[in-house]
Amino acid sequence: MKIIEAKNYDHMSHIAANIIASQLILCPKTVLGLATGSSPEGIYKELVEKYNNGDIDFSQVVSFNLDEYCGLPREHEQSYYYYQNNHLFSKVNISKENTHLPNGNVDDINAECENYEKMIAESGGVDIQILGIGHTGHIGFNEPSDSFAKMTHSVDLEQVTIEANARFFNSIDEVPKKAVTMGIGTIMRAKKLVMVVSGKDKAEILYKSVTGEVTPKVPATILQFHKDVTIVADADAISILKEKAPHMISK
Ligand code: GLP
Repeated sequence: MKIIEAKNYDHMSHIAANIIASQLILCPKTVLGLATGSSPEGIYKELVEKYNNGDIDFSQVVSFNLDEYCGLPREHEQSYYYYQNNHLFSKVNISKENTHLPNGNVDDINAECENYEKMIAESGGVDIQILGIGHTGHIGFNEPSDSFAKMTHSVDLEQVTIEANARFFNSIDEVPKKAVTMGIGTIMRAKKLVMVVSGKDKAEILYKSVTGEVTPKVPATILQFHKDVTIVADADAISILKEKAPHMISK
């Protein structure tokens, strides 16, 4: 596990975007795992800039998003479909048919999950997966649980997650209570993982995730077992780790 300290949010985004860009340069046919939320927004902004400068090309890229809410139409501004389209797909030359998000609005959610997992496998698997982290230590929408979910599945969101995401909606009642997410197993099968962490409110969970006992009660702790994970954290998010386990931060 490589942990990189960034000065601030922009610096964090810059470093992470450079990692993604170098992957796209070395392997134009990359299968890219995408994440939503405020943490990776800066990465997408930088990737769009690099694309506009002619530094990277998305024409052969295939993408799979981590998760999606259930019950929000795709056109809803807070759907992850809308987010990803708005922040990346509409601004680069990725083929629409190469982009994938789980559909949280189908009648047979189990069939949707199975099919999503199958499509990822058929694409050859995710080469590089972007991740954020929730306050509960969730990755994707894998909330604390008694076991690590192996596959894409539907979940009931924790109250803390609903509260954290309420900032994006007019009222907390509008926040969906369910979502579809890649499983922890799906995420761990990605060849490389790049996590971005920003803000004081993530300092404790970042510290716990990288130093604590590996447990499904703190899903992100599983990353300790991945062989190629890079965490880029800004000064606020890394503060507790820096104080208690400075040796873990790359020099
Ligand atoms: C959401 C997403 C996660 C994301 C997390 C943190 O619930 N499903 O993929 O990592 O919350 O979001 P943010 O980066 O906005 O703090």
